[in-house]
Amino acid sequence: MKMFIKYDSLTGNTKMLAEAIKNKYKNNLTESLEEADLVFIGSCTNRGNCTDNIKKFLQTINNKKIFLFGTCGFGGDQNYYDAIFNRTKQFVNSSNIIIGHFYCQGKMPMATRDKYINMIHQNPEDKNLLVSLENFDKALEHPNSNDIEKLMEILTNLNL
Ligand SMILES: Cc1cc2nc3c(=O)[nH]c(=O)nc-3n(C[C@H](O)[C@H](O)[C@H](O)COP(=O)(O)O)c2cc1C
Repeated sequence: MKMFIKYDSLTGNTKMLAEAIKNKYKNNLTESLEEADLVFIGSCTNRGNCTDNIKKFLQTINNKKIFLFGTCGFGGDQNYYDAIFNRTKQFVNSSNIIIGHFYCQGKMPMATRDKYINMIHQNPEDKNLLVSLENFDKALEHPNSNDIEKLMEILTNLNL
């Protein structure tokens, strides 16, 4: 099976997943989207969705098997990942088959942490900000080897 991979990664988190996929399937990869049977498409999360670039790319794909993947700063929970997957798959037309997906948390820029700290100083009674700060710190260690292992397991189970 010939495979093509396309991803958007601004700070390297989604790239880590993409590199693991490339490594697993190095003998199947093609540079030609046209000749690919399976297209891996990854994105970082921006405003709760894939990037505009990936939205556009998804709309150009026809008659392929597709595996969607990505990273996001929030979540750490399957419902949030599923929501991103569901929004992303809206851009895939029905001539394609989505054979699987994988999302995990990805560290965010330190400037975001500084922003939370400032906001906490200004609104010390806002408990949501503390939750956001806690989530930021949790995201710092992702994607980790456990995330990559989970992705590899999902792919192995697809028997490609
Ligand atoms: C401008 C901007 C917007 C973001 N919006 C979201 C968002 O809506 N939801 C989310 O979970 N993470 C959001 N994030 C966090 C990134 O999606 C997350 O850190 C991701 O792992 C980055 O992936 P990358 O390193 O491949 O670029 C945002 C980050 C930036 C810089």
